[in-house]
Amino acid sequence: MRATRVAALLLACAVLGGTASACTGAGAGVSGTPGAAGLRDPYFPKLGNGGYDVTHYDLRLAVDRSAGHLTGTATITARATQDLSAFHLDLVGLDVTGATVEGRPAAVNRAGGELVLRPDAEVADHLRKGRTFETVVRYSGAPRTLTDADGTHEGWLRTVDGAVALGEPAGGPTWFPGNHHPSDKATYTVAVTVPEGLTAVSNGELVSHRTSGTGTGNTGTSHTGARTVTYTWRTTEPMASYLATVAIGRFRTEESRTDEGVTVFTAVDPGVAAEAEPELARVPQILAWEAERFGPYPFRSAGAIVDRAEDSEYALETQNRPYYPGPPTAGLLVHELAHQWFGDSVTPADWQDMWLNEGFATYAEWLWSEEHGDTPAGESFEDAFADDANWAFPPAEPPTAAEISEPPVYGRGAMVVHRLRLAVDDDAKFFALLRGWTTAHRYGNASTEEFTAYAEKATGLDLSRLWSVWLYGDGRPADATAPDLPAR
Ligand code: TRP
Ligand code: ZN
Repeated sequence: MRATRVAALLLACAVLGGTASACTGAGAGVSGTPGAAGLRDPYFPKLGNGGYDVTHYDLRLAVDRSAGHLTGTATITARATQDLSAFHLDLVGLDVTGATVEGRPAAVNRAGGELVLRPDAEVADHLRKGRTFETVVRYSGAPRTLTDADGTHEGWLRTVDGAVALGEPAGGPTWFPGNHHPSDKATYTVAVTVPEGLTAVSNGELVSHRTSGTGTGNTGTSHTGARTVTYTWRTTEPMASYLATVAIGRFRTEESRTDEGVTVFTAVDPGVAAEAEPELARVPQILAWEAERFGPYPFRSAGAIVDRAEDSEYALETQNRPYYPGPPTAGLLVHELAHQWFGDSVTPADWQDMWLNEGFATYAEWLWSEEHGDTPAGESFEDAFADDANWAFPPAEPPTAAEISEPPVYGRGAMVVHRLRLAVDDDAKFFALLRGWTTAHRYGNASTEEFTAYAEKATGLDLSRLWSVWLYGDGRPADATAPDLPAR
């Protein structure tokens, strides 16, 4: 599923040596043009690929006991958005051992983070604009840990007792080939085979877990004689690839159901379980509280994955089931669960729109403190206003990729939301606006410009000063009390 804002690069049809264009589709031979190598994201231009739109990923992964080696088969169902002669997938590291498109072997090339597939000429008709085609990539190797522009780590992280895949913003390609840009959301089936004793947790719902001995044709392990377990997870609501995860380790798991019928599946490292479980017991309450303010919880399942504090530098709003290094506080639960609405269901059109995630998730914390603590949101606003770190750049315009997760995106992003609440001057209307926003773009993508247009239409107010001062303005305004609305 593809958002409209990021335009696919449509390459002109080549006229080679004066002979007929390859684009008419008439005649023999390969027709169409190659899909673009990237979607020209303002911060990560090579992420994602042009010419197709993934609808479903089926990932079969087998991981060894150290969780440092992976064997995978990715079956990718996609719809061509142009006549394709070749196309790219994003994949970092790992060895590709074979690929087919529509059941026929495809030629494979690697260049940096790009995997280029050239389908057999015989199936060219199956890659015409509008048609759905299936690609299978077989791969194996030691998946990589990447160091982000900001110095933190993502991709495949080894943990004390296994591994976890964290994909924001560019870690997805370390563990599966795909269209790794937030604008192309898809459904997923993730089946992970691990040595018995380890658990594999992913997004969505657990469909099955099956134990196998050896000699059954199962490729799950190189330890002959060892039994393996295959955990199969299914995500039926669209998901951006940066929100896909798999966590492997020794986990204590628990499943329950909220009053609203949402399945809550938690997986907790036994070493932190005593401390984490009382906190996780609040998840249903927090979800219900957020649903009142942000609209119905968008997914059929929820939960948490809790590893040890040393396993990662940060929490992440992995879809359905956020990831926490160590026991989460109530504030962190509120933040990551708010992302299920802001980020996961309504996903940024590109990485410049990150404040639509972090500003709203931070504002959810302010709202929680206002109602469950003794800090009104206005006080959180004043604290954020006083903090120099929030004024380094406007939230809608991080200067570089290294800064998309800096304080202005979070704190000043939340200040934008608070100013909007003040401008609306009616909490019932303000929360109705938030619910309208999450409804309008549920399971899709949205941009900053769509948000500002939406807010103006929904309120009927001239919010131009609010955007120019708080969202796009350079530096701290002299007077935080000046009204954002024009005098009337
Ligand atoms: N989105 C995460 C959160 O707010 C934080 C985060 C982790 C992040 N890794 C990142 C943000 C990479 C931007 C880029 O909980
Ligand atoms: Zn966040």
